[in-house]
Amino acid sequence: MAEKKIILTGDRPTGRLHLGHYVGSLKRRVELQNSGEYDEIYILIADDQALTDNADNPDKIRKNIINVVLDYLSVGLDPKKTTICVQSALPALHALTFYYLNMVTTARLSRNPTVKAEIALRGFADEGLPAGFFCYPVSQAADITAFDATVVPVGEDQLPMLEQCREIVEKFNRIYGETLVLPKAMIPENEMQRRLPGVDGKAKMSKSLGNCIYLSDDAKTVKKQVNGHMYTDPQHLKIEDPGHIEGNVVFTYLDALSVTEDFAQFLPDYRNLDEMKEHYMRGGLGDGTCKKFLINVLEKNLEPIRAERAKWEADIDTVYDIILEGTQRAQEKTNATLERVRSAMRIDYFKDRSVIGDWKKML
Ligand code: TRP
Repeated sequence: MAEKKIILTGDRPTGRLHLGHYVGSLKRRVELQNSGEYDEIYILIADDQALTDNADNPDKIRKNIINVVLDYLSVGLDPKKTTICVQSALPALHALTFYYLNMVTTARLSRNPTVKAEIALRGFADEGLPAGFFCYPVSQAADITAFDATVVPVGEDQLPMLEQCREIVEKFNRIYGETLVLPKAMIPENEMQRRLPGVDGKAKMSKSLGNCIYLSDDAKTVKKQVNGHMYTDPQHLKIEDPGHIEGNVVFTYLDALSVTEDFAQFLPDYRNLDEMKEHYMRGGLGDGTCKKFLINVLEKNLEPIRAERAKWEADIDTVYDIILEGTQRAQEKTNATLERVRSAMRIDYFKDRSVIGDWKKML
């Protein structure tokens, strides 16, 4: 039997999704979904993982479950093709995590660069590190393997999670026999998709920095973020001055989002982005013009997303049913994997009475 091609990926529901998510992952997911190349596609809303560093604030996670589903649906994820499900309602994942914890050492977990960085970021180094947070890469391995995922589209920062997962799979299969599917990471193709900076030029869009453009922001808010907060070239004081492209957020965003047709539509002075950049570097092209063009490009992307979102918001009970049904499908899938795992581990005592026979042999 040819191996099925199965995608699993996920997000922590700690906030509304923003343009960085769109450029870095959502757009790609929609393309993968519509490519027709995959037999099954699952997207996991990883609320249990979000709790590992938000245990004192479950309402933050609760509020964002619906927000994240709305974000998914509004960018074009189609529940007929993509199963959207909620982690906490999949008990098989918890059981798998418990078994996989025996497949890793604490020393190995301590070396995970992503977890290390996150520990520093969250101040856990001083406050004390929750064991659940420390072990979340193991739970993520359960997410991935429970769906028999062959491909896991993620950001570059998640590569250590995939490596950890592959090690767990290899160890498990070595001890208990071929049981788990070995997954592969799929990371964004180009630099632009890898990390869209915040409007202030900081490396990442982040809610706490207030430098995001959310997919659910209205046109007025987007305009304000660009005109009021977007970082350009601090040395470009007069229009005639030569400008710099590098580190200029307006151009970083244009690199990530504009297409050649946008010029004919919004800025016919130039045929393409290269021509526009040349003029900016030569001097004579003002930041105001660049920002105005960017706003048009952003709106061209965001307006259809907003319209789609409005439709789903008006039909919110259907949105609820989508994650309910998706989660039920995911329960079947993950329960089947758990059963397979328990059989491989010889802890399937109640499948039949063979444990009695095994006991008799020992007498
Ligand atoms: N850790 C991922 C992130 O922060 C979210 C996630 C949870 C995930 N479970 C997953 C990603 C399984 C891929 C596969 O972005």
